[in-house]
Amino acid sequence: MLVLSSSQFDPLQTSRDQRYSVHESIRKMTVGASLYEPINVFKPMGPDIGIVDGPFEYLTVGGVTLPLPFTTRMTVVRLSNGNLFLQSPIKFDEVLASELQRMGTIRHLVSPNQFHYAHIGEWSKAFPDAIPWASPRVRQRARARHIDVTFARDLDFNPPEEWRQDIDQTLFPGGYFKEFIFFHKKSKTLVLADTIINIELDKIPEPWRTATKLSGMYHPRGQIFFGMRLPLLLQQREAKAAFAKIHSWRPERIMLSHGRCFESHGNEVIRRIFGAPAR
Ligand SMILES: [Fe+2]
Repeated sequence: MLVLSSSQFDPLQTSRDQRYSVHESIRKMTVGASLYEPINVFKPMGPDIGIVDGPFEYLTVGGVTLPLPFTTRMTVVRLSNGNLFLQSPIKFDEVLASELQRMGTIRHLVSPNQFHYAHIGEWSKAFPDAIPWASPRVRQRARARHIDVTFARDLDFNPPEEWRQDIDQTLFPGGYFKEFIFFHKKSKTLVLADTIINIELDKIPEPWRTATKLSGMYHPRGQIFFGMRLPLLLQQREAKAAFAKIHSWRPERIMLSHGRCFESHGNEVIRRIFGAPAR
């Protein structure tokens, strides 16, 4: 699933009539869709890890906003040095930022793939000492879409010193959709953005409900994002290495950006979706 910035709906740049029209359009789009309430609050999921569900986002293709509201969330890890690691930051919210600041120092703003980055600039402005981390191709994508964000560092195949003690990572192959996935050691939690999608069908309206059902990416089945499937077949060596690494972590929980997280039996979910570990 792709994330866009809601900045194109900036009410400061529109007239009152335009504003009404935009808000009315958004209201119509969201009829029949549900958020993971409450939004913009930290929800603990394990020791030193939790999620924050965000507001609706909308998909744009070629500059056109599609009437498909979808939910996103970020995962927050408190590192053992007291710094916070924000994977796929959701839309900036001051109250949320204050809540997080009470938990630790907001230090790492992480874009796991080129589609999850749109709000990093907002967090970066509020926390200039935080480090925005780039995923492959994300700079080009932000530039092409006029999203105001400056990345300071690039994610690598191996975790940087800044979080190596607490979090492992690997680059999950998927061609255009490749993404960095993370593993929080203390809580045995796999942290994904789009690699696995697990939409709850009763949270989205038709015709998206039927389309999602046909894709197989729905709760409780949860599947690899369909855009990654062909690239994974074409990149078998990289795929095998990534699967092996994920199996070696033996995750108990799996956090996702879209749909319902897997709060237990993560290892069984991984076996079902990625297949048994190679011998
Ligand atoms: Fe996504």
